[in-house]
Amino acid sequence: MPPTSGDRATEVASHLQRTRPGTKPKVIRPKKTATPRPPPATRGPSKGSSPFKTVPVKPTVSHHGVSPRVLTMFGVGMLGIGMYCGYLYSSYRQAVIQSKTMEVPDDVSDRYNTTATYYDDEVDLGERFMQLGAKRKELVRMARGDVLEVSCGTGRNMGYYQLGEKRGLDAQGHSEIQGCRSVTFVDLSPQMVEVAKRKFQQQYPGFERAAFWTEDARKYLPSKKQLSSQSQSARSQSSERAEWSYSRPYFDTVLETMGLCSTPDPVGLLRHLGSITEPEKGRILLLEHGRSRYDWVNNILDNLAPAHAHRHGCWWNRDIGQIVEQSGLEVVEIKRYHLGTTWRVILRPKPGPRSGLEQAAPEKQPQGGEEKSRSFLGFSV
Ligand SMILES: C[S@@+](CC[C@H](N)C(=O)[O-])C[C@H]1O[C@@H](n2cnc3c(N)ncnc32)[C@H](O)[C@@H]1O
Repeated sequence: MPPTSGDRATEVASHLQRTRPGTKPKVIRPKKTATPRPPPATRGPSKGSSPFKTVPVKPTVSHHGVSPRVLTMFGVGMLGIGMYCGYLYSSYRQAVIQSKTMEVPDDVSDRYNTTATYYDDEVDLGERFMQLGAKRKELVRMARGDVLEVSCGTGRNMGYYQLGEKRGLDAQGHSEIQGCRSVTFVDLSPQMVEVAKRKFQQQYPGFERAAFWTEDARKYLPSKKQLSSQSQSARSQSSERAEWSYSRPYFDTVLETMGLCSTPDPVGLLRHLGSITEPEKGRILLLEHGRSRYDWVNNILDNLAPAHAHRHGCWWNRDIGQIVEQSGLEVVEIKRYHLGTTWRVILRPKPGPRSGLEQAAPEKQPQGGEEKSRSFLGFSV
């Protein structure tokens, strides 16, 4: 048998021992070639005659299949959420106690005079979260002909108007007039109207047929008589563009968004709007907020209503359905969103004798054949 490298090493060592007595023989071993380590996944108890040492693998998952780390994080998270809910609940209880002891008048509409400058900032985030922009757009795009927007506030619907009339086709392929011939904005708060007017002028610098009035929407009349019977200077404080003075007794579209909550007499307001809406094809378009379909939501709304009204000028617990019913207007469509708190309502004047406007504005006949023949189409309802 030929000598191996191990035998050779022992031989050399014993030679050195012989030549240098007292020194410990040094065994020179041949360099080991690197032994490949098994990949981590294959480590662990091995079967058979594996040359590798078995390394017991520490269990990283419990018998539920969830690691202790995840369980700990989950526990801490739940604890945090629990503490936060507790905090919310105790704040809510405190707010309810405070709210219930407040004496708030029915009419809180004056709050907008002070909140006008930051109103948009205040409602922006909430509206984004609820995707109200899309709901506003959908509704405003239905506006046709001569349009009145009441309780216009800071003009949050401004970007959605299609201004200028044009001939187009409806869903059935029938010819119709689309777009807005004129837009009249009305709000009780001069500060809100100022913001709305500024926005409009920035967005539609070339559109002449727009007017802005600081007025109670429950009394606003569209007739020429009404315009001329008032001091133009008093009314045009917020209306430099009113020279095209509106001359019809009706509007083709009346729009209001988030307004019924802020007026002390929402039923009276709707009745009045019905009296200035074109009787045949005119529509009143509403996007409002109010009571929910669910009692637990209504309880929260009721409990906090006085504090909310005092601060924001809006009664958020009104029953929009009941207000609509009491107005006597004909319901064309009602849709509800956000647990039923957001109401999209389309109304039209009830056919039959009309009140109010007939006495207030004798010049109620549309002037000229062109106005008479202008139609208001395009509602899919
Ligand atoms: C909640 S804000 C809504 C503003 C805007 N329409 C919107 O969608 O954001 C209610 C607005 O209604 C106005 N308002 C309240 N009562 C009114 C009335 N009787 N006539 C006209 N505007 C009124 C307030 O001044 C305020 O600007």
